Amino acid sequence: MSPPSAQPSTARQLELGLGLPSLAIEPEWKAQQRLWGHSFHPMSSYLASFPAALAHAFIARYSRPGDAVLDPFSGRGTAPLQAAAEGRVGVGNDLNPFAYLLTAAKLEPANPAEARTRLTALRLAWAASADDWQARADASQADPAGARPFPIPEEVAVAFHRRTFAQLLFTQSALDLEARVDRFLAAALAGVLHGKSPSYLSTLMPNTFSMAPRYVREYAAKTGFSSPERDVFECLAAKLDRLYRSPLPRGAGMALLGDARDAGARAMAALHERRLPERARLIVTSPPYLRVVKYGYYNWLRHWFLGLDSRAIDATLDDAHRRTPYLVFLREVLRDLLPALAEDGVAVLVGGDVATDRGRKIPDGLGLAERVWEEAAAPEGYHLAGIAVDDVHAHRKMTKLWGAEAGRATQVDRILVLAASESGRRRAVAGAGLPVDWTWPPRLRSL
Ligand SMILES: C[S@@+](CC[C@H](N)C(=O)[O-])C[C@H]1O[C@@H](n2cnc3c(N)ncnc32)[C@H](O)[C@@H]1O
Repeated sequence: MSPPSAQPSTARQLELGLGLPSLAIEPEWKAQQRLWGHSFHPMSSYLASFPAALAHAFIARYSRPGDAVLDPFSGRGTAPLQAAAEGRVGVGNDLNPFAYLLTAAKLEPANPAEARTRLTALRLAWAASADDWQARADASQADPAGARPFPIPEEVAVAFHRRTFAQLLFTQSALDLEARVDRFLAAALAGVLHGKSPSYLSTLMPNTFSMAPRYVREYAAKTGFSSPERDVFECLAAKLDRLYRSPLPRGAGMALLGDARDAGARAMAALHERRLPERARLIVTSPPYLRVVKYGYYNWLRHWFLGLDSRAIDATLDDAHRRTPYLVFLREVLRDLLPALAEDGVAVLVGGDVATDRGRKIPDGLGLAERVWEEAAAPEGYHLAGIAVDDVHAHRKMTKLWGAEAGRATQVDRILVLAASESGRRRAVAGAGLPVDWTWPPRLRSL
């Protein structure tokens, strides 16, 4: 464990363009192993997710077992899952139904016996109807536009071996995403849908994101691509083994689907209904960046499997804002969150300075944290504890997406630490220097 660092020097602060008081929080999360944290975290890849260790750095400092920890932009559920794994009540909200599905699968999971029993039932049902599904799959791959009951995009039809595709069509129709155990299996399957190793069902694309559909169609036609045969049930069974390496999270958890602008009010109502602490002691969140990620477009294969509409997702999410509307949006979010924070509650906003958008310079991405404080948080009555700077954060996923130039888009992460009151501000400042235990799995006494 390394000691908390000293405050950055004045020169360094100027170099970083910091106009706000800095908070000396050592980014120890970067020193942890890639898969540090609960084994549910890597259930499925998700763009712009933060590491579980980053969530832990704040959960450990600013909450205690039994406290509610809220993330209004929960993505794949990193912060609420890590909170639940550490004995807190993890609450995650997102407007993206795929993010909701992943968060719900992690926070309201199937236990190992339930998941494996359901998998056995699926295998048996498949064995009884395999010929029918195979005929349907073959017809769909031969004529995707004429597939029944719905046309299938050509880029989906080319992605899988015919046997794998038949099993997938079967599982897609058998799984009920409203049912807890089925949802867990569907989320696990979404996580192994495409990738380059034998654990994945299609080798057409990397695991991280879906490539542009047109590129995929042209690539498949040009190379005569054919995916190796992969057994859906075997791959799912192996995925379950990996997921259940950690014991189930010991804290309670809940997932909410909806706009962050009323996530605070909905979280309080949901916590009240379950007789849990209504107000969050801690918010840890990473709001969508300025126009950097298209969560729908880059996940079209997973969305197809889950019956979600990628275009509708991109049309709904708040990723396309320029700076002024973005700040208005965040101000509305923060307004709603304030009553959902405990009296001494702390809110941690992880963001990046966005200098380029897919390689093109954008003028309004720099100094964002400062603007968020001045134009969104201060006017709503928050207290500023300070800003922690993580200046060598490498966005590997972004780099893969848009090349090295895009990797530079968010080189500097700014972590804005706010509080609901003066006592919260003092707690946040005092907690910044506290040593954090990085033992994983955590020692029992620390839960
Ligand atoms: C940077 S990501 C958060 C990633 C998350 N920290 C994780 O580890 O997976 C931002 C999230 O904001 C969500 N989002 C965008 N607009 C939203 C809105 N108006 N309300 C709620 N969520 C929204 C996106 O779907 C995305 O999951």
